[in-house]
Amino acid sequence: MSDDVAFTYGEEDEPERLIGMDLARASEAAVLNVFRWIGKGDKIGADAAATDAIRGMLNMVDMCGTCTIGEGIKDEAPGIFVGEKLGTWKEDSTPVSIALDPIDGTTLTSKGLPGALSVIAAAQAKSPEDRALAAVPSYYMEKIAVGPKVKEGTGTIRLGAPIEQNLELIALKLGKRVRDLVVCVLDRPRHENLITSVRQTGAAIRLIGDGDIAGAIAPSLPDSGVDVYIGIGGSPEAVLAAAAIRSLGGEILARMWPRDKEEKKFLEDQGFGDQLRKTYTSRDMAHGDGVVFVATGVTDNAMLRGVSVVGHIASTHTMIIRARSRTVRYIRAYHDLTRKTIRLQSATGESRL
Ligand code: FBP
Repeated sequence: MSDDVAFTYGEEDEPERLIGMDLARASEAAVLNVFRWIGKGDKIGADAAATDAIRGMLNMVDMCGTCTIGEGIKDEAPGIFVGEKLGTWKEDSTPVSIALDPIDGTTLTSKGLPGALSVIAAAQAKSPEDRALAAVPSYYMEKIAVGPKVKEGTGTIRLGAPIEQNLELIALKLGKRVRDLVVCVLDRPRHENLITSVRQTGAAIRLIGDGDIAGAIAPSLPDSGVDVYIGIGGSPEAVLAAAAIRSLGGEILARMWPRDKEEKKFLEDQGFGDQLRKTYTSRDMAHGDGVVFVATGVTDNAMLRGVSVVGHIASTHTMIIRARSRTVRYIRAYHDLTRKTIRLQSATGESRL
Protein backbone atom coordinates (compact mmCIF):
# COMPACT_ATOMS: atom_id res chain seq x y z
CA MET A 1 0.00 0.00 0.00
CA SER A 2 2.70 2.51 -0.88
CA ASP A 3 1.53 6.11 -1.21
CA ASP A 4 4.24 7.91 -3.13
CA VAL A 5 3.89 11.64 -3.38
CA ALA A 6 5.42 13.84 -6.09
CA PHE A 7 7.11 16.69 -4.27
CA THR A 8 6.94 20.17 -5.75
CA TYR A 9 7.83 23.46 -4.18
CA GLY A 10 6.45 26.96 -4.39
CA GLU A 11 3.14 28.35 -3.19
CA GLU A 12 1.73 28.46 -6.71
CA ASP A 13 2.13 24.66 -6.82
CA GLU A 14 0.94 24.15 -3.28
CA PRO A 15 -2.06 26.46 -2.82
CA GLU A 16 -3.31 24.33 0.08
CA ARG A 17 -0.47 25.80 2.18
CA LEU A 18 -2.27 29.12 2.20
CA ILE A 19 -5.81 27.78 2.20
CA GLY A 20 -5.03 25.65 5.27
CA MET A 21 -4.67 28.72 7.47
CA ASP A 22 -7.88 30.25 6.12
CA LEU A 23 -9.73 27.01 6.82
CA ALA A 24 -8.31 26.97 10.34
CA ARG A 25 -9.72 30.46 10.92
CA ALA A 26 -13.10 29.20 9.70
CA SER A 27 -13.17 26.16 12.02
CA GLU A 28 -11.97 28.35 14.92
CA ALA A 29 -14.82 30.79 14.20
CA ALA A 30 -17.30 27.89 14.11
CA VAL A 31 -16.16 26.72 17.52
CA LEU A 32 -16.14 30.21 19.03
CA ASN A 33 -19.68 30.75 17.75
CA VAL A 34 -20.79 27.43 19.18
CA PHE A 35 -19.32 27.95 22.65
CA ARG A 36 -22.54 29.32 24.13
CA TRP A 37 -24.47 26.31 22.80
CA ILE A 38 -22.31 23.65 24.48
CA GLY A 39 -24.39 21.71 27.00
CA LYS A 40 -27.59 23.64 26.24
CA GLY A 41 -29.49 20.64 24.89
CA ASP A 42 -30.05 22.07 21.40
CA LYS A 43 -28.01 20.24 18.77
CA ILE A 44 -29.75 21.92 15.83
CA GLY A 45 -29.03 25.37 17.30
CA ALA A 46 -25.39 24.44 17.90
CA ASP A 47 -24.97 23.08 14.38
CA ALA A 48 -26.61 26.15 12.86
CA ALA A 49 -24.27 28.47 14.82
CA ALA A 50 -21.19 26.55 13.61
CA THR A 51 -22.42 26.45 10.02
CA ASP A 52 -23.22 30.17 10.02
CA ALA A 53 -19.67 31.02 11.09
CA ILE A 54 -17.91 28.59 8.74
CA ARG A 55 -19.91 29.85 5.79
CA GLY A 56 -19.28 33.48 6.75
CA MET A 57 -15.52 32.92 7.01
CA LEU A 58 -15.25 30.80 3.85
CA ASN A 59 -16.96 33.59 1.88
CA MET A 60 -13.76 35.61 2.34
CA VAL A 61 -11.27 32.96 1.18
CA ASP A 62 -9.70 33.47 -2.26
CA MET A 63 -10.55 30.15 -3.88
CA CYS A 64 -12.96 28.68 -6.39
CA GLY A 65 -14.40 26.31 -3.80
CA THR A 66 -17.13 23.79 -4.51
CA CYS A 67 -18.84 22.03 -1.64
CA THR A 68 -18.51 18.26 -2.15
CA ILE A 69 -19.65 17.29 1.32
CA GLY A 70 -21.78 19.70 3.27
CA GLU A 71 -24.32 19.99 6.00
CA GLY A 72 -28.04 19.78 5.79
CA ILE A 73 -29.03 16.36 4.57
CA LYS A 74 -27.98 14.05 7.39
CA ASP A 75 -28.59 16.56 10.17
CA GLU A 76 -31.70 18.19 8.71
CA ALA A 77 -30.06 21.44 9.77
CA PRO A 78 -29.70 24.70 7.87
CA GLY A 79 -26.53 24.12 5.98
CA ILE A 80 -23.96 24.42 3.30
CA PHE A 81 -25.10 22.15 0.52
CA VAL A 82 -23.33 19.94 -1.97
CA GLY A 83 -22.53 21.83 -5.16
CA GLU A 84 -22.59 25.28 -3.52
CA LYS A 85 -19.84 27.70 -4.44
CA LEU A 86 -17.56 28.64 -1.54
CA GLY A 87 -14.92 31.37 -1.47
CA THR A 88 -14.54 34.53 -3.51
CA TRP A 89 -14.22 32.83 -6.93
CA LYS A 90 -11.83 35.61 -7.98
CA GLU A 91 -10.30 35.13 -11.39
CA ASP A 92 -7.18 32.89 -11.23
CA SER A 93 -7.94 31.60 -7.75
CA THR A 94 -7.48 27.86 -7.21
CA PRO A 95 -10.28 25.35 -7.77
CA VAL A 96 -10.76 23.26 -4.62
CA SER A 97 -13.22 20.66 -3.45
CA ILE A 98 -14.40 21.38 0.08
CA ALA A 99 -15.81 18.87 2.54
CA LEU A 100 -16.96 20.03 5.92
CA ASP A 101 -18.72 19.04 9.08
CA PRO A 102 -19.24 22.17 11.18
CA ILE A 103 -19.72 19.88 14.18
CA ASP A 104 -18.99 16.17 14.18
CA GLY A 105 -20.73 15.26 17.40
CA THR A 106 -23.76 17.57 17.59
CA THR A 107 -25.35 15.44 20.31
CA LEU A 108 -22.10 15.41 22.30
CA THR A 109 -22.03 19.21 21.98
CA SER A 110 -25.63 19.63 23.10
CA LYS A 111 -24.92 17.41 26.12
CA GLY A 112 -21.57 19.05 26.90
CA LEU A 113 -19.80 15.69 26.47
CA PRO A 114 -16.24 15.19 25.17
CA GLY A 115 -15.43 14.20 21.58
CA ALA A 116 -16.90 16.91 19.32
CA LEU A 117 -14.86 18.55 16.54
CA SER A 118 -15.37 21.11 13.81
CA VAL A 119 -13.80 19.78 10.62
CA ILE A 120 -12.99 21.06 7.12
CA ALA A 121 -11.02 19.33 4.35
CA ALA A 122 -9.97 20.81 1.04
CA ALA A 123 -8.36 19.21 -1.98
CA GLN A 124 -6.94 21.02 -4.97
CA ALA A 125 -9.10 20.19 -7.99
CA LYS A 126 -8.15 20.18 -11.67
CA SER A 127 -11.16 22.38 -12.47
CA PRO A 128 -14.21 23.68 -10.59
CA GLU A 129 -16.14 20.64 -11.91
CA ASP A 130 -13.54 18.13 -10.66
CA ARG A 131 -14.41 16.49 -7.33
CA ALA A 132 -11.11 15.86 -5.55
CA LEU A 133 -13.01 14.69 -2.45
CA ALA A 134 -15.44 11.87 -3.14
CA ALA A 135 -19.18 12.46 -2.86
CA VAL A 136 -20.24 9.01 -1.65
CA PRO A 137 -24.00 8.65 -2.20
CA SER A 138 -24.86 6.24 0.66
CA TYR A 139 -25.80 7.45 4.12
CA TYR A 140 -23.42 5.05 5.88
CA MET A 141 -20.15 3.28 5.09
CA GLU A 142 -18.50 0.27 6.66
CA LYS A 143 -15.01 1.38 7.74
CA ILE A 144 -11.70 0.13 9.05
CA ALA A 145 -8.91 2.62 9.82
CA VAL A 146 -5.31 1.97 10.86
CA GLY A 147 -2.14 3.94 11.40
CA PRO A 148 1.05 4.16 9.28
CA LYS A 149 2.81 1.15 10.87
CA VAL A 150 -0.07 -1.12 9.91
CA LYS A 151 -0.31 0.34 6.42
CA GLU A 152 3.37 -0.21 5.67
CA GLY A 153 5.11 -3.47 4.79
CA THR A 154 3.70 -6.74 3.57
CA GLY A 155 0.19 -7.95 4.26
CA THR A 156 -2.83 -5.71 4.21
CA ILE A 157 -5.95 -5.45 6.27
CA ARG A 158 -9.12 -6.17 4.33
CA LEU A 159 -12.64 -4.87 4.76
CA GLY A 160 -14.86 -7.92 5.10
CA ALA A 161 -12.06 -10.25 6.28
CA PRO A 162 -12.78 -12.09 9.55
CA ILE A 163 -12.11 -9.76 12.47
CA GLU A 164 -9.61 -12.22 14.01
CA GLN A 165 -7.56 -12.16 10.81
CA ASN A 166 -7.39 -8.36 10.65
CA LEU A 167 -6.56 -8.08 14.35
CA GLU A 168 -3.80 -10.68 14.10
CA LEU A 169 -2.19 -8.77 11.23
CA ILE A 170 -2.51 -5.45 13.08
CA ALA A 171 -0.99 -6.96 16.22
CA LEU A 172 1.90 -8.44 14.21
CA LYS A 173 2.68 -5.13 12.54
CA LEU A 174 2.49 -3.22 15.81
CA GLY A 175 4.58 -5.78 17.67
CA LYS A 176 1.77 -6.41 20.15
CA ARG A 177 -0.32 -9.36 21.25
CA VAL A 178 -3.94 -9.35 20.01
CA ARG A 179 -5.10 -9.12 23.63
CA ASP A 180 -3.21 -5.83 24.01
CA LEU A 181 -4.92 -4.19 21.02
CA VAL A 182 -7.42 -1.37 21.51
CA VAL A 183 -10.29 -1.18 19.02
CA CYS A 184 -12.46 1.93 18.74
CA VAL A 185 -16.13 1.31 17.82
CA LEU A 186 -19.24 3.54 17.70
CA ASP A 187 -21.64 2.49 20.43
CA ARG A 188 -24.60 1.38 18.30
CA PRO A 189 -26.90 -1.68 18.37
CA ARG A 190 -25.76 -2.49 14.80
CA HIS A 191 -22.29 -3.18 16.21
CA GLU A 192 -23.38 -5.72 18.82
CA ASN A 193 -21.93 -8.75 16.94
CA LEU A 194 -18.77 -6.85 16.02
CA ILE A 195 -18.17 -5.90 19.66
CA THR A 196 -18.71 -9.49 20.80
CA SER A 197 -16.30 -10.82 18.14
CA VAL A 198 -13.61 -8.29 19.06
CA ARG A 199 -13.91 -9.11 22.75
CA GLN A 200 -13.70 -12.84 21.98
CA THR A 201 -10.25 -12.26 20.47
CA GLY A 202 -9.15 -10.77 23.77
CA ALA A 203 -8.72 -7.25 22.36
CA ALA A 204 -10.22 -4.30 24.24
CA ILE A 205 -12.93 -1.98 22.95
CA ARG A 206 -13.16 1.79 23.33
CA LEU A 207 -16.80 2.64 22.71
CA ILE A 208 -17.55 6.16 21.50
CA GLY A 209 -21.01 7.70 21.64
CA ASP A 210 -20.51 9.78 18.50
CA GLY A 211 -17.79 11.49 16.50
CA ASP A 212 -16.23 8.80 14.35
CA ILE A 213 -14.02 11.23 12.40
CA ALA A 214 -11.84 11.52 15.50
CA GLY A 215 -12.29 7.79 16.15
CA ALA A 216 -11.03 6.86 12.68
CA ILE A 217 -8.10 9.28 12.83
CA ALA A 218 -6.98 8.10 16.29
CA PRO A 219 -4.91 5.05 15.11
CA SER A 220 -2.86 7.37 12.85
CA LEU A 221 -1.91 9.61 15.76
CA PRO A 222 0.93 8.63 18.06
CA ASP A 223 -0.17 8.22 21.68
CA SER A 224 -3.92 8.07 20.96
CA GLY A 225 -4.01 4.66 22.61
CA VAL A 226 -6.21 3.33 19.79
CA ASP A 227 -4.84 0.73 17.33
CA VAL A 228 -7.74 0.39 14.92
CA TYR A 229 -11.15 1.91 14.29
CA ILE A 230 -13.87 -0.43 12.96
CA GLY A 231 -17.56 -0.08 12.23
CA ILE A 232 -20.38 1.55 10.32
CA GLY A 233 -20.70 5.32 10.43
CA GLY A 234 -21.60 8.27 8.22
CA SER A 235 -20.21 8.37 4.66
CA PRO A 236 -19.29 12.09 4.81
CA GLU A 237 -17.36 11.34 7.99
CA ALA A 238 -15.43 8.59 6.15
CA VAL A 239 -14.28 11.04 3.46
CA LEU A 240 -13.33 13.72 5.99
CA ALA A 241 -11.38 11.19 8.03
CA ALA A 242 -9.73 9.93 4.81
CA ALA A 243 -8.32 13.41 4.11
CA ALA A 244 -6.62 13.42 7.52
CA ILE A 245 -5.55 9.78 7.55
CA ARG A 246 -3.93 10.04 4.10
CA SER A 247 -2.08 13.07 5.31
CA LEU A 248 -0.84 11.17 8.37
CA GLY A 249 0.32 8.13 6.39
CA GLY A 250 -2.37 5.78 7.70
CA GLU A 251 -5.16 4.08 5.81
CA ILE A 252 -8.94 3.90 5.90
CA LEU A 253 -10.86 1.37 3.84
CA ALA A 254 -14.57 1.96 3.41
CA ARG A 255 -17.51 0.49 1.53
CA MET A 256 -21.06 1.76 1.09
CA TRP A 257 -23.46 0.18 3.59
CA PRO A 258 -27.08 0.72 2.55
CA ARG A 259 -29.36 0.88 5.60
CA ASP A 260 -32.17 -1.16 4.05
CA LYS A 261 -33.51 -2.58 0.80
CA GLU A 262 -34.99 0.78 -0.17
CA GLU A 263 -31.65 2.58 0.07
CA LYS A 264 -29.92 -0.23 -1.81
CA LYS A 265 -32.50 -0.02 -4.59
CA PHE A 266 -32.24 3.76 -4.64
CA LEU A 267 -28.45 3.55 -5.05
CA GLU A 268 -28.79 0.93 -7.80
CA ASP A 269 -31.43 3.02 -9.59
CA GLN A 270 -29.06 6.00 -9.43
CA GLY A 271 -26.37 3.94 -11.21
CA PHE A 272 -24.22 3.14 -8.14
CA GLY A 273 -24.90 -0.64 -8.21
CA ASP A 274 -21.31 -1.54 -9.16
CA GLN A 275 -19.83 0.76 -6.54
CA LEU A 276 -21.71 -0.97 -3.74
CA ARG A 277 -19.03 -3.66 -3.72
CA LYS A 278 -16.14 -1.24 -4.15
CA THR A 279 -13.65 -0.81 -1.32
CA TYR A 280 -12.64 2.86 -1.23
CA THR A 281 -9.13 3.64 0.00
CA SER A 282 -8.14 6.97 1.55
CA ARG A 283 -6.72 7.98 -1.83
CA ASP A 284 -10.02 7.15 -3.57
CA MET A 285 -11.85 9.39 -1.13
CA ALA A 286 -9.31 12.26 -1.09
CA HIS A 287 -7.42 12.40 -4.40
CA GLY A 288 -4.39 14.36 -5.41
CA ASP A 289 -1.51 15.70 -3.38
CA GLY A 290 -3.04 19.07 -2.53
CA VAL A 291 -5.12 17.80 0.38
CA VAL A 292 -5.40 19.73 3.63
CA PHE A 293 -7.42 18.85 6.73
CA VAL A 294 -8.21 21.13 9.63
CA ALA A 295 -10.05 20.43 12.87
CA THR A 296 -10.80 22.57 15.92
CA GLY A 297 -11.92 21.00 19.20
CA VAL A 298 -15.49 21.85 20.23
CA THR A 299 -15.35 19.76 23.40
CA ASP A 300 -12.23 18.00 24.72
CA ASN A 301 -11.13 14.90 22.83
CA ALA A 302 -8.04 12.74 22.38
CA MET A 303 -6.84 14.88 19.46
CA LEU A 304 -7.58 18.39 20.63
CA ARG A 305 -8.78 20.31 23.66
CA GLY A 306 -12.20 21.95 23.36
CA VAL A 307 -12.94 25.66 23.40
CA SER A 308 -12.81 27.36 26.80
CA VAL A 309 -13.34 30.88 28.04
CA VAL A 310 -11.59 32.48 31.00
CA GLY A 311 -12.49 36.09 31.66
CA HIS A 312 -12.51 37.78 28.27
CA ILE A 313 -10.11 35.30 26.63
CA ALA A 314 -11.36 32.34 24.61
CA SER A 315 -8.84 29.55 23.82
CA THR A 316 -9.14 27.25 20.83
CA HIS A 317 -7.04 24.27 19.71
CA THR A 318 -6.72 23.52 16.01
CA MET A 319 -4.73 21.09 13.91
CA ILE A 320 -3.79 21.57 10.26
CA ILE A 321 -2.49 18.55 8.35
CA ARG A 322 -1.16 18.61 4.79
CA ALA A 323 -0.94 15.47 2.66
CA ARG A 324 1.96 16.63 0.47
CA SER A 325 4.42 17.30 3.28
CA ARG A 326 2.65 15.33 6.04
CA THR A 327 3.22 18.31 8.31
CA VAL A 328 0.95 18.34 11.35
CA ARG A 329 0.57 21.79 12.94
CA TYR A 330 -1.18 22.54 16.19
CA ILE A 331 -2.41 26.06 16.78
CA ARG A 332 -3.37 27.18 20.24
CA ALA A 333 -5.12 30.51 19.82
CA TYR A 334 -6.18 33.07 22.40
CA HIS A 335 -9.03 35.29 21.27
CA ASP A 336 -9.68 38.54 23.11
CA LEU A 337 -13.46 38.68 23.20
CA THR A 338 -13.47 42.44 23.79
CA ARG A 339 -12.01 42.81 20.29
CA LYS A 340 -12.68 39.59 18.42
CA THR A 341 -15.14 39.67 15.54
CA ILE A 342 -16.12 36.99 13.04
CA ARG A 343 -18.06 36.96 9.79
CA LEU A 344 -21.42 35.24 9.83
CA GLN A 345 -23.38 34.25 6.77
CA SER A 346 -26.54 35.50 8.49
CA ALA A 347 -25.23 39.03 9.17
CA THR A 348 -23.59 41.79 7.23
CA GLY A 349 -20.17 43.02 8.30
CA GLU A 350 -18.29 41.77 11.35
CA SER A 351 -20.12 40.24 14.32
CA ARG A 352 -18.99 40.25 17.93
CA LEU A 353 -19.03 37.07 19.91
P1 FBP B 1 -23.59 14.27 13.96
O1 FBP B 1 -22.65 15.17 14.60
O2 FBP B 1 -24.00 14.73 12.62
O3 FBP B 1 -24.74 13.95 14.85
O4 FBP B 1 -22.83 12.88 13.65
C1 FBP B 1 -22.20 12.20 14.66
C2 FBP B 1 -21.89 10.78 14.25
O5 FBP B 1 -21.56 10.05 15.42
C3 FBP B 1 -20.74 10.63 13.25
O6 FBP B 1 -19.47 10.85 13.79
C4 FBP B 1 -20.95 9.23 12.75
O7 FBP B 1 -20.32 8.96 11.51
C5 FBP B 1 -22.44 9.19 12.64
O8 FBP B 1 -22.96 10.15 13.57
C6 FBP B 1 -23.05 7.85 12.92
O9 FBP B 1 -24.40 7.92 12.60
P2 FBP B 1 -25.55 7.39 13.56
O10 FBP B 1 -25.63 8.31 14.74
O11 FBP B 1 -26.78 7.47 12.71
O12 FBP B 1 -25.19 6.01 13.96
